[in-house]
Amino acid sequence: MPVQIGGKPESTFDDPIGLLGDCHRRVERFLGVLVKVAGDARGQALTVEQREALESALRYFRDAAPKHTADEEQSLFPRMRAAGGPAMEAVLAQVDALEADHARAGKAHDEVDSLGRRWIESGQLPEDDAARLCDVVSELAALYRNHIAIEDREVFPAAAAALTAEQRKAIGEEMAARRSLKT
Ligand SMILES: [Fe+2]
Ligand SMILES: [Fe+2]
Repeated sequence: MPVQIGGKPESTFDDPIGLLGDCHRRVERFLGVLVKVAGDARGQALTVEQREALESALRYFRDAAPKHTADEEQSLFPRMRAAGGPAMEAVLAQVDALEADHARAGKAHDEVDSLGRRWIESGQLPEDDAARLCDVVSELAALYRNHIAIEDREVFPAAAAALTAEQRKAIGEEMAARRSLKT
């Protein structure tokens, strides 16, 4: 049974584009956790609740979020490029920038992961590391705000309109395989 987040039922692998949108809601939620914990505790000792929230957000961005990036870069964008057409060309002009965002976000997440893990392991973070963590997570929040808006409002609707049922099915199967699940 699909997990429900925020009251809206999750999409299934039959609706891979819907699933990609659901992933964005998780990205936003876990980013919110990083911003809140980094800003509230500022490198000081974490409460049990803060530590657990930080651990699950770090785990999400370490393990699950890269699969979302692969879903877009390996399964979705190539099929959109192959579909072509004037309407698609306009959207594809943004896709290169989206891929550059993925690379930038990946580097920022590596830094957040190492600072966050050090915080959890040592119990505290030195002041400059704590300040750096706050800066990087707010940069990430700004990056994702723009990135997710473009994907949700322009890229995904264009893909949903242009891709055939067979192409969508193939994307769903690839997404499931990335998570070692059967469709
Ligand atoms: Fe993306
Ligand atoms: Fe995305």
